[in-house]
Amino acid sequence: MPDYHSIVILTGAGISAESGLATFRGPGGLWEGHRVEDVCTPQALARNPALVHRFYDERRAKLAEVEPNPAHRALARLEREWAGELLLVTQNVDDLHERGGCGQVLHMHGELNSALCASCGAARPWQGSLPPGSLCPVCGAPALRPDIVFFGEMPYQMDRIDAALRKCDLFVSIGTSGAVYPAAGFVQTARYVGAETLELNLDPSAGSIYFHESRMGPAGELVPEWVEELLCS
Ligand code: OAD
Repeated sequence: MPDYHSIVILTGAGISAESGLATFRGPGGLWEGHRVEDVCTPQALARNPALVHRFYDERRAKLAEVEPNPAHRALARLEREWAGELLLVTQNVDDLHERGGCGQVLHMHGELNSALCASCGAARPWQGSLPPGSLCPVCGAPALRPDIVFFGEMPYQMDRIDAALRKCDLFVSIGTSGAVYPAAGFVQTARYVGAETLELNLDPSAGSIYFHESRMGPAGELVPEWVEELLCS
């Protein structure tokens, strides 16, 4: 295996599937019984805040019932044992990377355990239910909402992600369908700068053709195998 210096890893819902969290585009195309557009857009929040808040309250409560799986733990091992630069970017809003032992996780689509003030933009850690109209502790507005990046909103820390992609020599995509941009385009940026690209997924993603190598199977098996390979090369 080549001697890599800088790795960017992108994870999606597939890495948490074996922990018992539903993926977005599973059979039926529904996320826990809802169309993504009905619970994951600014329009949905404006139209029916009670539904959207309840939906994310349920997702937040579900976190207490699930545990990280071997894929999350393998990435934590990589973070601990690999000497080069590593940026772990996740599209997931769960906290399984952190509970699996990862110290540095960039949640580009937000986090269930965070509340965002729609008035002043402050974000703060949040546990338990978040009723519509909850007061922002910073500005006092009754404007706290789930800290989730809805469709039509800008994902977090794109400058940092782009800078890391532009200097990486290995990009690895794990458990994501490649259906949602800008994350789906990361592989092309990595290719553009000459990085090796590897996909670990149950099925070929929409962008499978852009990867130098695609390994198909459950993340709980593929990720520990790949981490072992990288650390022992
Ligand atoms: P998707 O549900 O679109 O895709 C999940 C991918 O994981 C699919 O390609 C599955 O084949 C794969 N998969 C399922 N089980 C797996 C397993 N055990 N091991 C490995 N792979 C497995 O989820 P994402 O690509 O993460 O955005 O979705 C991207 C974004 O769309 C989400 O972040 C969310 C959603 O709208 C927001 O909430 C803003």
